[in-house]
Amino acid sequence: MRIDRFLSLNGFGSRKSVKKYFHKEEVKINGQIVTDYSTDINGNDVIEVKGIKVSNQPYVTIMLNKPEGYISSMIDERYPSVMNLIPEQYRKRVRIVGRLDYDTTGLLLFTDNGVLNSRLANPKYHIPKTYEVTVNHILKPGLVEIFKAGDIDIGRGEKAASSELVIKDEYHADITVHEGKYHEIKRLFGKYSYDVIKLHRRSLGPINLDVDIGQTRLLNQEEYLQLLKITHLKLEDSL
Ligand code: URA
Repeated sequence: MRIDRFLSLNGFGSRKSVKKYFHKEEVKINGQIVTDYSTDINGNDVIEVKGIKVSNQPYVTIMLNKPEGYISSMIDERYPSVMNLIPEQYRKRVRIVGRLDYDTTGLLLFTDNGVLNSRLANPKYHIPKTYEVTVNHILKPGLVEIFKAGDIDIGRGEKAASSELVIKDEYHADITVHEGKYHEIKRLFGKYSYDVIKLHRRSLGPINLDVDIGQTRLLNQEEYLQLLKITHLKLEDSL
């Protein structure tokens, strides 16, 4: 990828406006000043602008702690879209990774890396997703083995694969699933006559939610690399 495009994608302005940094000799690649803005860079190059290291990820990936009452759709429908919660400068750029129901809270990712997005949502990659569940009546210990065995008919001709259930107390459990079927958790508990009255996603693969409800943050380079790893992508593929 050309360095002017890279800087532009990393928030330094349009391709035209980033030229000023080169004219002023403010851009370095691996410690060397560069004035040619068409120079190609790769995933291992260290880029600095005005002495500040620029993350060498040309893509933006964001975590949101989704509140209740927002839908995982690009536009407002019956409820407002989660896109309203994304900082304005990224709103047109990123897409939602998978979906959470309007009444589910917790970790939702957004990225403009299309391949990464589709792989994270693809059951083929078995990305673990952990949810905190609150149900309406007492959890029976036998559910742990039933969920572990998998192959559970959840209706509409679909079966839920093996999942890990950890019962925390009578009404609360953590569950880790590896698929991502529509309403999967609610259908899974529903099969055994439980209503899920609260559902909160805490993690997705290596990414743990650590922002307050309604807040967002950009994933750092290490987290981004971990996501590439679990989806069998390489940083070089992204450039
Ligand atoms: N399973 C559900 O039932 N709902 C969600 O939002 C996510 C997983």
